[in-house]
Amino acid sequence: MPTNVLVAYGTTNGSTAEIAETIAEVLRKEGLTADALPAGAVPDVAAYDAVVVGGGLYAGHWHKDARRFVRRHRKDLARRPLWFFSSGPLDPSASERDIPPVPGVKRAMARLDVREHVTFGGCLREGAKGWVARMILRNGKGGDFRDFERIEAWAAKIAHEPAVV
Ligand SMILES: Cc1cc2nc3c(=O)[nH]c(=O)nc-3n(C[C@H](O)[C@H](O)[C@H](O)COP(=O)(O)O)c2cc1C
Repeated sequence: MPTNVLVAYGTTNGSTAEIAETIAEVLRKEGLTADALPAGAVPDVAAYDAVVVGGGLYAGHWHKDARRFVRRHRKDLARRPLWFFSSGPLDPSASERDIPPVPGVKRAMARLDVREHVTFGGCLREGAKGWVARMILRNGKGGDFRDFERIEAWAAKIAHEPAVV
C-alpha cells in the first residue's frame, strides 16, 4: 500500500490551503496517497503514515488551527515522520533566504522531532478578512509571494525521503 500522507493546514484567507493542496498534488504525482485538509477538521491522524502541518503567520504566530492541531495530536504526531511549513512574508524574502520558524513553531519542532520546517512567501489579496489586512492592502503592501516552484520542489523532496517511500 502506498504511504498515506496528511497535509493539515491552518488558514484565514485561503492561501495556505492552496499551498497545502499543491503539496498533496505533488505527493500524489510521486505515487503516494495524500489528503490536504483544514487542521480543524481532522478528528484523527491514525489513518496516515506521515504528516505535513502548515500554517499562515499572524502577528508572529502560526495560525491557531495549526497550533491546536499539533497540541491535540501530539502523541500520534510524535510517532510519525513529520514536516512543518509556514506561509507569511509579503515580500520576496522567503524565496531569497531561509526564514526560521517563529518561536512557537520552533518549540513545537523541538518537542516533536520535526524533520524540517520551511517558510514560504505569503499572499494577501482583496477581500481578505480583518481591518489590518484591509490596511495592508490599502497601503499597497499586499500581493502573492508564494513560490510554487519552491513549494513543489519541497513536496517532491518529502516524497523521496526514506521514511516515506
Ligand atoms: C493581520 C495580519 C498579520 C500578519 N502577520 C504576519 C506575520 O507576523 N508574519 C508574516 O510573515 N506574515 C504575516 N502576515 C501575512 C500572512 O501570513 C499572509 O497573508 C499569509 O499568506 C496568510 O495566510 P492565509 O491566506 O492562509 O490565511 C499577516 C497578515 C495579516 C493580514
